[in-house]
Amino acid sequence: MADSTVRWAIVGTGGIARRTLGDLRLVPRAEIVAVCSRSEESADAFAAEWGIERGYADFTALCADMTVDAIYIATPHGTHFRYASEALRAGKHVLCEKPLTMTAAEARELKSLSVEQDVFLMEAMWMKFAPSMRRALELVESGAIGTPMFVQAGLGYPVPGDGPERFWVAELGGGALFDMGVYTIALAHLFLGVPDAVSTIGEIRPDDVDLHESYTLSYMNGATAQLTTSITYAIPPRGSVGGTAGSIAFGEMLFAPRSLRLMTGTPPQPPRIEDIEFEQEGAGYVPMFRAACEAILAGDREHPFHPVSATIEVLETMELVRAQLIAQRDAS
Ligand SMILES: NC(=O)c1ccc[n+]([C@@H]2O[C@H](COP(=O)([O-])OP(=O)(O)OC[C@H]3O[C@@H](n4cnc5c(N)ncnc54)[C@H](OP(=O)(O)O)[C@@H]3O)[C@@H](O)[C@H]2O)c1
Repeated sequence: MADSTVRWAIVGTGGIARRTLGDLRLVPRAEIVAVCSRSEESADAFAAEWGIERGYADFTALCADMTVDAIYIATPHGTHFRYASEALRAGKHVLCEKPLTMTAAEARELKSLSVEQDVFLMEAMWMKFAPSMRRALELVESGAIGTPMFVQAGLGYPVPGDGPERFWVAELGGGALFDMGVYTIALAHLFLGVPDAVSTIGEIRPDDVDLHESYTLSYMNGATAQLTTSITYAIPPRGSVGGTAGSIAFGEMLFAPRSLRLMTGTPPQPPRIEDIEFEQEGAGYVPMFRAACEAILAGDREHPFHPVSATIEVLETMELVRAQLIAQRDAS
């Protein structure tokens, strides 16, 4: 680490790399020193456009670059495990776009590698770092809504059939669940924990690309999460949590809500409503990048807001949902 700065490389020159790069630059102790693409032309063009020192078309060569401390993986889901495992083996810290991997087993393997190599590993679950989400957790921990018993979340976009490949190609992690279910399940896990039972209805194609699903997570204490995701129809990007003494409803977008509504009080009193607004830093990714940088500079292997164990738990739930979709399809 040069003078307490994390020197980052970005892998992938697509949508999310372009959306987040400006935010990474807003983090004081972060420097972007390299970009890696599958083609030299695109690496060089991206490096020139964004004023990045070095462009690579060879990921192994990037991993050998001693001036790179950390790698931010911004490529389709199906490529994450390959890039993250190679980066970790090379001793690089890794921040990887969601979902970290396509299976819980792969995520466990990455966690072992990060422990072996003593480097940082985190899925880029920016939702958990949003100030609104941190405030909601504080409110819940302070007992403001009593015991959390209910989570509702939905995300859906009618993605055109000729839209980005990553939604439609199974090997890249296509489908609604990998792309959007990762947020809804992460929200349920954040407030309710790991479910005791999962029940799903939806539609998955013969190539295992899921189109839409509605899934209920149930807990032995009576708590429930109702979650819906789709790549064929629109679902407002919202979430909420209800408890024995009140509720919190997040404003859009679920990934990084800019507001929340706290509703408390029990009948016969009318509800007390408090609307809280939050400033967004950059495009909303700054708190996550800052947290990752601080953890890396502190020598931590994980961040407590989103440890790899949480990623693994969410992937395990996702696997149950997928298994039920596949079983229903194969039985019909
Ligand atoms: N946090 C968020 O708000 C958010 C939003 C959107 C997406 N994401 C996540 O970010 C990741 C990338 O999404 P995106 O929308 O940026 O995807 P994308 O534009 O389809 O792809 C990103 C880049 O990855 C590289 N790439 C594409 N296909 C590849 C392949 N088969 N093998 C290796 N590299 C490939 C390409 O870069 P080169 O041509 O330079 O190789 C491409 O430009 C996904 O995991 C997604 O879940 C997160």
